[in-house]
Amino acid sequence: MEKVTVDLHSRKSEVLVGECLGNLDKYIDGRKNFIITDKNLDKLYRKRFPRTPVCVVEPGEKSKSLEMVASISRWLLEQGADRSSFITGIGGGVVCDLAGFVASTYMRGIGFGFVATSLLAQVDASIGGKNGVNLDGYKNIIGTFTQPEFVICDVDMLLTLPEKEFVCGMAEVIKHALIEDRDHFERLENYSTRILSRDRNEMEHIVSHSVAIKAAVVERDEREHGERRKLNLGHTWGHAVETVAGLPHGEAVAVGLAFAAGLSVSRGSFTEEERGRIIRLLGMYELPVETQASPAEIFDVLVKDKKREAGSLWFILMNGIGNVSIEAIGTDELKNYALNGT
Ligand SMILES: NC(=O)c1ccc[n+]([C@@H]2O[C@H](COP(=O)([O-])OP(=O)(O)OC[C@H]3O[C@@H](n4cnc5c(N)ncnc54)[C@H](O)[C@@H]3O)[C@@H](O)[C@H]2O)c1
Ligand SMILES: [Zn+2]
Repeated sequence: MEKVTVDLHSRKSEVLVGECLGNLDKYIDGRKNFIITDKNLDKLYRKRFPRTPVCVVEPGEKSKSLEMVASISRWLLEQGADRSSFITGIGGGVVCDLAGFVASTYMRGIGFGFVATSLLAQVDASIGGKNGVNLDGYKNIIGTFTQPEFVICDVDMLLTLPEKEFVCGMAEVIKHALIEDRDHFERLENYSTRILSRDRNEMEHIVSHSVAIKAAVVERDEREHGERRKLNLGHTWGHAVETVAGLPHGEAVAVGLAFAAGLSVSRGSFTEEERGRIIRLLGMYELPVETQASPAEIFDVLVKDKKREAGSLWFILMNGIGNVSIEAIGTDELKNYALNGT
């Protein structure tokens, strides 16, 4: 097992990569535990849950709502949960966000932890202390910054994750490597077969490295005033692609990473050869690098979405593999590149 500590001002959080669901009780310290999970995980893993009350929600983004927060809080009250109780979210990013938010607000906040079960939850959603729910179609508009006490990343549970969800998680793993770890990028290039077969040792290595990269970035900038924005690599263009082309998040991020690489080449900060490596790597993990959707439409959605300062917006550009910077880029320049590739 690999242990990564996420040390934020609010609290320290231990990420236990390679620990298993069966050992969950060890981390609860005798407190009364309440589990929140979704139907898919409940069906697959209920037998391995500790004997504790379980609240099961529908899988999917729709469950991240204030109505669901109210309904889970009501359930906790009925079950007699009090300030000394504990909540464990067992699931993907949806369950982690929801459980983290409920735990941070129930009785003004009680202890909580996660068993992160999707690759995206293990390397991204469970790390960094953000917990949010959606409102009227706006994502994560209501939320808290509170860290879980622990995150268990049981890499064996990744074996039941649907293929599409797995590769979407790989887009975030690749993003982390591009932000600040060239060696990790090379590992992703060299061991794709082992990774795609979700080999236990390899996944323990990949997940713990990826967690450590995100942890380092958020530790330097807990509340997203500056450096944490690097985690948006591929997401500025990617979010607009997600909206216009209707691609799953991870696939849209992959298209966004390829776009950011191309834009960086056109600005002279990145080489064509490095861009080629990124395109090849995304391909190895069956991730798309382009979409049929109209670039003009994607550009329009992007500028509408983003706060702009004097005709420019913040964009994360690449200066080398494992080295990115936050740059203000003119909307005209961005439009030119998006529409004409120059
Ligand atoms: N808080 C943050 O910092 C942060 C960061 C990134 C993403 N997010 C949020 O994460 C969410 C997306 O997370 P996600 O991609 O994990 O989606 P998800 O939680 O919907 O999980 C994807 C699907 O995989 C299933 N699943 C999960 N683990 C499984 C397993 N081991 N075996 C079989 N099936 C499994 C789930 O039931 C679900 O159907 C979004 O709501 C996003 O906003 C939050
Ligand atoms: Zn993302």
